[in-house]
Amino acid sequence: MKKFSEKIIYWYQENKRDLPWRNTKDAYLIWLSEIILQQTRVEQGMAYYLKFAKEFPTVKHLAAADDEKVMKLWQGLGYYSRARNLHAAAKVISEKHKGKFPNEHSDILLLKGVGEYTAAAIASFAFNKVHAVVDGNVYRVLSRVFGIETPIDSTEGKKEFYKLANELIDKKNPALHNQAIMEFGAIQCKPVSPDCSVCPLNTMCFAYAKKRITELPIKAKKTKVRCRYFNYIVLHHKTLTALNKRGEGDIWNSLYDFPLIETNKELGEDQFLKSKDWKNFIDGAQYTVKSIPVSYKHILSHQKIYARFWEIECAKPFDKLLPETAVVIKTKELHQYAVPRLIDIYLESRK
Ligand code: ADE
Repeated sequence: MKKFSEKIIYWYQENKRDLPWRNTKDAYLIWLSEIILQQTRVEQGMAYYLKFAKEFPTVKHLAAADDEKVMKLWQGLGYYSRARNLHAAAKVISEKHKGKFPNEHSDILLLKGVGEYTAAAIASFAFNKVHAVVDGNVYRVLSRVFGIETPIDSTEGKKEFYKLANELIDKKNPALHNQAIMEFGAIQCKPVSPDCSVCPLNTMCFAYAKKRITELPIKAKKTKVRCRYFNYIVLHHKTLTALNKRGEGDIWNSLYDFPLIETNKELGEDQFLKSKDWKNFIDGAQYTVKSIPVSYKHILSHQKIYARFWEIECAKPFDKLLPETAVVIKTKELHQYAVPRLIDIYLESRK
């Protein structure tokens, strides 16, 4: 019987997608693609990869860029700490490593935003080092083929899967093997309804034999989702509006949204305008509500955001109503600021 690795490599060569980061050995570009793809599907990440690679062709270009530009280019991709870490690490490589990307797994692992998976991906794809990648795709393939029932989100499970992945890796072709197993997980051994009848591993697959495809891999914990209620205040005075720069310790750090009143339940129109929070905010200023507030539901991995946008026209300048983190801007310059997807969707709907 052919070995696992040979089979997936053969499958890969017949079925792989032609993706731009696979046609380079440039560690910087590989790193960039891996950071973009950490929590993003290939179809969505592609445009961002091409934009970043064009705008910042080398790590030195990225290091020299200003923060706002990097964040603006990342806009819409979510998980913005990836962009901040990418930029911070680019500066370290540019200064400490004189622009040369570190080629040892242990040094790559020290870069901000790079965990075990990403370090193994870069070390193998760019430098052909023997480090097995273990991402969601790999967990799924290994748990199904080898019938591993240890939860993938347990310490014990992580150890077991890493050990097996490093035993299976083709030591002569680590880059090819790693690309192959990930692609196999993404395209053939899909999370839902994989077509096992055409799978080259079906004769050796535990889950296929035991009809347990839908049960594997096993996760111990369910992700808890927190509901939040955002009442956004979109202030206007003539041609001016206000944005708020978000800070650390919450979602969307360093992106801009509008001044916000967060409540512990969804408030209807009347309830909101009569609430203490609103009265404190508006502090007796004269205003009119420009339109019936629009409601949005926005889903993040661990949070459900219920947002309302209150368009408020103030009779006088509104600077004094604002928190320190806010900025007053010309409404027509709104598009220059990096905003979360929720705000972007709202602004698009308002056009
Ligand atoms: N997801 C994460 N890394 C990837 C890669 N190199 N190719 C395709 N999908 C990926």
